[in-house]
Amino acid sequence: MKKIFYLLISGWVLYSPQFSYGSLIEEKNCSACHRLSKVGKEKKGPDLFYAGNKFQSAWLEEYLQNPVTLRKTGTINSPNFLKGGLQNLQQHPILNKNDAVNITQELMAMTLPGLSEEQINPLTKGQIAKTKYEFERTFSCISCHQSLNLAGKPRGGISGPSLVNAGNRLKESWVANWLKNPKIFSNKSRMPVYKMDNETRLRFTKFIMTLKKENLR
Ligand code: HEC
Ligand code: HEC
Repeated sequence: MKKIFYLLISGWVLYSPQFSYGSLIEEKNCSACHRLSKVGKEKKGPDLFYAGNKFQSAWLEEYLQNPVTLRKTGTINSPNFLKGGLQNLQQHPILNKNDAVNITQELMAMTLPGLSEEQINPLTKGQIAKTKYEFERTFSCISCHQSLNLAGKPRGGISGPSLVNAGNRLKESWVANWLKNPKIFSNKSRMPVYKMDNETRLRFTKFIMTLKKENLR
């Protein structure tokens, strides 16, 4: 009898939801549309199991209270061609400030181990111009991603997420890891894997971080 009791207790400790991912995320059922761990099939929304590596917390907090469209064509599992690209947005929960702050904390705790951290020097004006040229012409990143033109207007394709405010939204070291190999994060990634040398990859990373909403006109 005692044994069964201990078995039950340890089962409860191991499997009780409060010992898995953050409880507010569970409560709000975010996992209906987002993977919170790498196991299982991709869902309607982007993966969040590495949110702590990827996002700046101030951006997350704001987004959860006021979600905006980042993927006009939607995601693989939830295409967005209807209603002028607003379909996914209309379904997205809107959180109050308190919940947004708490869920942001829970998201920032979700990280993948073993990502590399690299020091990247600020770019000179010349390097920014060179990278912008390569972003648009040599690698054609702009065919899938919106960025800013010289006049500060959004410009570019919409099959990938918008990078217009990438410098406010993403963490630099995550971008560097993503450009090294997007497959670390998802085998299903639709982004081409580029064989960039390190110098180019770090320069692109820094360039992406210069794309900020403050520069939007
Ligand atoms: C009905 C499905 C659905 C639910 C429920 C949902 N989301 Fe989303 N979420 C989406 C989709 C689809 C996107 C992508 C929208 C876009 O990029 O324009 C998204 C985007 C996001 C993003 C931005 C991710 C990125 O990589 O750009 C975050 C953060 C996020 N959701 C958090 C949450 C949290 C936290 C919850 C629970 C409170 C939640 N979502 C519930 C569908 C959902
Ligand atoms: C054929 C279309 C395509 C091209 C070309 C492309 N990407 Fe992407 N990219 C994507 C898609 C789609 C995603 C979203 C994630 C996914 O599906 O893997 C993405 C994601 C990203 C992200 C992460 C953004 C986020 O919010 O998740 C960055 C940064 C990025 N791409 C940078 C680049 C750079 C730099 C280049 C050029 C060297 C480039 N991309 C070329 C399609 C593309």
